[in-house]
Amino acid sequence: MTRLHRTTHSEHETESFAAEIARQVTPPLVLLLEGELGAGKTAFVRGFVRALPGGEGVVVQSPTFALARSYPTTPPVHHLDLYRLADARGLEELGLMELLRDQGAFSLVEWPRDLALPGPVGCVRIVTAGEDADRREIAVELPDAGDA
Ligand SMILES: Nc1ncnc2c1ncn2[C@@H]1O[C@H](COP(=O)(O)OP(=O)(O)OP(=O)(O)O)[C@@H](O)[C@H]1O
Ligand SMILES: [Mg+2]
Repeated sequence: MTRLHRTTHSEHETESFAAEIARQVTPPLVLLLEGELGAGKTAFVRGFVRALPGGEGVVVQSPTFALARSYPTTPPVHHLDLYRLADARGLEELGLMELLRDQGAFSLVEWPRDLALPGPVGCVRIVTAGEDADRREIAVELPDAGDA
């Protein structure tokens, strides 16, 4: 595991940190995004997507109702938001597992809950800190090549 940490003070700084991460990872990779409502999970995905070729200016919003959206970047990014998914078993029926198994893509998952996944999985934990409403502590764990 590679562990990275950043304190950010704006949405833009969170996007920039995500962009740095996007430039140092390769598929297949699933990134689980943890953090309360409004923590900045979608902001992280936006920075990640926009740092990839083809992602400049792409609109990235929580796919809360759609559950998933794929961006035509290189490599592609599947953005999942499982907040409204009642039951993890529904993942297979809705075709979401297929996205998560895509070996040629990144999958970034908001509200992953207790997803059990094959293949390389990393995580991003975003914590709001103290009285500063714009401050976030972001901890990223990335699997190393060869990790299960
Ligand atoms: N340091 C920061 N990093 C990220 N977002 C920040 C920061 N400071 C303030 N914000 C604000 O926090 C909000 C983060 O919203 P975002 O949609 O990314 O959260 P989310 O974790 O995806 O929430 P949800 O669980 O509802 O999908 C935005 O309004 C953003 O402007
Ligand atoms: Mg979101």
